[in-house]
Amino acid sequence: MRAYPYRMETYDGAPEPSTEPDAEQPDAAQPAAEEPAAEEPSKLLPVAELHLHIEGTLEPELIFALAERNGIQLPYADLDELRARYEFTDLQSFLDLYYANMAVLQTEQDFADMTRAYLVRAAVAGVRHAEIMVDPQAHVSRGVPLETCVNGVASVLANSLEEFGISTLLIAAFLRDLSEESALEVLEQLLAMNAPIAGIGLDSAEVGNPPAKFERLFARAKEAGLRRIAHAGEEGPPSYIIDALELLDVERIDHGIRCMEDPELVEHLVEERVPLTVCPLSNVRLRTVDTLADHPLPAMLAAGLNVSVNSDDPAYFGGYVDDNFVQLETVLGLSEFDRVRLASNSIRSSFADEDRKAELLAELGHS
Ligand code: ADE
Ligand code: ZN
Repeated sequence: MRAYPYRMETYDGAPEPSTEPDAEQPDAAQPAAEEPAAEEPSKLLPVAELHLHIEGTLEPELIFALAERNGIQLPYADLDELRARYEFTDLQSFLDLYYANMAVLQTEQDFADMTRAYLVRAAVAGVRHAEIMVDPQAHVSRGVPLETCVNGVASVLANSLEEFGISTLLIAAFLRDLSEESALEVLEQLLAMNAPIAGIGLDSAEVGNPPAKFERLFARAKEAGLRRIAHAGEEGPPSYIIDALELLDVERIDHGIRCMEDPELVEHLVEERVPLTVCPLSNVRLRTVDTLADHPLPAMLAAGLNVSVNSDDPAYFGGYVDDNFVQLETVLGLSEFDRVRLASNSIRSSFADEDRKAELLAELGHS
């Protein structure tokens, strides 16, 4: 596959020399026919999606189709009535709808269909590697066997590279508003069934459920050889980011945007190159920032933080990874340099093996 012809071949993680949106000129060595017309949208870059809840990819149409297939009566008369609920005031107002809509997921086929639909759309978005969270407790607690949920998702992920050109890993995320005992119980079941999970995550209602609540869970996951990530600093304070790193020994922080309130923490995150999987459209829809124009992503990039752009729950937040990039470019004037930097960060921060990372970085022009 052709590398992207920009000037970033030697990019090494250093801050950008200029923040002017159009400071980057097309490479003069490229033949004129290769240069995009001025009005043409920017090329899709190969990216890794590192922050994605598979249940958050359930599009309204699929919710209705699965409800019909499973004989489930939805509390909405039609698509418009469902879509009218997608006005969120905070994280909890979204989580209420997100968990309620999971009722349509009953069989392995349902989980497989949801996963396949995401991969089809992600391929269009330029996603070449995806680390996908699933919330097992949200399904077990309503009587769906753990095997149904895990096997349904995993059966599609097993062939994702061949079918969609997307390498994938599965991450079991634990609901922080439930007890640590519940999480430990499900983790032990996942380990006992040899579930094909690469790691664990921590999600759901953040405030009031600090990382300290899950020290034993993360220690057990580490002992079992699993990778570790946690949501922190989405709605919760910067201290949750510090605690996730120190107490849970996580390797990536999901969101992390509130680190910007603590300069010492920012310095530490920059020094250690801790990956922060930022989700701009999610932050706007959940009102953690007022508008996209107010999003801290440009400041995070300028500070030298290791940030990537992700979609979180794309069916609920108005877009997939490509939509996030387009809006960042349109609203914030995100430069080509920063788009490539974000793509490079996503690949480098993934849990893909070194060969796969090298392959994707070469496609990006960063071998
Ligand atoms: N579960 C799904 N999306 C989430 C988010 N944005 N924050 C916390 N938990 C989630
Ligand atoms: Zn999330």
